[in-house]
Amino acid sequence: MKRIGLLTSGGDCQALNAAMRGVVKTIAHSGQPVEIYGFLDGYRGLIYGNFRMLTGSDFSGILTKGGTILGSSRTPFKTITEPDENGLDKVEAMKQNYYKLKLDCLVVLGGNGSHKTANLLSKEGLNIVTLPKTIDNDLWGTDMTFGFQSAVDIATQAIDCIHTTAASHGRVFIVEVMGHKVGWLTLNAGMAGGADIILIPEIPYDIDKVVDKIEEREKSGSKFTIIAVAEGAVSKEVAKLSKKDRKKLAEKPGYPSVSYEIAAQIQEKTGREVRVTVPGHTQRGGSPCPYDRVFATRLGAEAGELILNNEYGFMVGYRNREIVKVPLDKVAGKLKYLDPDATIIKEAKLTGICFGD
Ligand code: F6P
Repeated sequence: MKRIGLLTSGGDCQALNAAMRGVVKTIAHSGQPVEIYGFLDGYRGLIYGNFRMLTGSDFSGILTKGGTILGSSRTPFKTITEPDENGLDKVEAMKQNYYKLKLDCLVVLGGNGSHKTANLLSKEGLNIVTLPKTIDNDLWGTDMTFGFQSAVDIATQAIDCIHTTAASHGRVFIVEVMGHKVGWLTLNAGMAGGADIILIPEIPYDIDKVVDKIEEREKSGSKFTIIAVAEGAVSKEVAKLSKKDRKKLAEKPGYPSVSYEIAAQIQEKTGREVRVTVPGHTQRGGSPCPYDRVFATRLGAEAGELILNNEYGFMVGYRNREIVKVPLDKVAGKLKYLDPDATIIKEAKLTGICFGD
């Protein structure tokens, strides 16, 4: 008998359900009897003992379903070792609930913050297996996270739609793409959507270079320009600031996001009409794309196999086109940034895409 806890933590993404289904189907298919405890709303469910007993039928028909059947929440790692408002020791509470239910292991589907907590619980002696989820694709130790390709599809569709209206009106359009502090999503959606300018956090931009590109396009007869801006994009000036000064600047009242600031600067410098579109959380919503369904199922199946083999303390990741197991302490606390010298960026530049550098 295997007694397994499952939880989905942090911002949701597509294919969370597909991944859990992969884990459960693999164990069930092995013939090993299994009891599944689904903790509700991420680590919160584990802390406060909120769970649902699940059976195989709960995982039937969810391959294509967006969101997570367990619910999710953000439980910041920064405060995980601090008592809650009622003085509860959260780490101790998670351990107690794990032991009370006599779990053999806990499967955590999460991104960066969730992996820090997963690593901490693993160090505290719990058997943990994790799966890499996030539309940001910023998790260390895996070339790809599930949710990413689905989000690329949605952001690309947004850029595609903007393209036609931008062409009709001869306007400059900014599409702001999610991705937190990294530019994976913006780069991929930007290239797929034929953006003329792509601004990502890893390559701080010079607004004058952005303006030059718009004018160069105008001179060559293109009446419109599409700019894909990562929500975490920074100017060269801001990039020079210390972390503390950047935080202070972000706290000052100002533009709703970096895209609006860029739009105002372009408008002022060129006199052209600029519009901003923010697809926002639509990028995390809806059904997973076929790639993510397959990918999440594969990762889930491999996690199921680790559990059957009693191998714990790993994230199931994907490197150089192979599924790999990565020790949790190698994953936790590191962000996977885009390398500004990566060949994909070189190739994008070869085709004339401007990165504002
Ligand atoms: O990490 C996924 C993500 O969608 C980021 O791209 C974005 O910065 C953040 O979550 C938004 O968080 P929230 O859902 O809490 O607004």
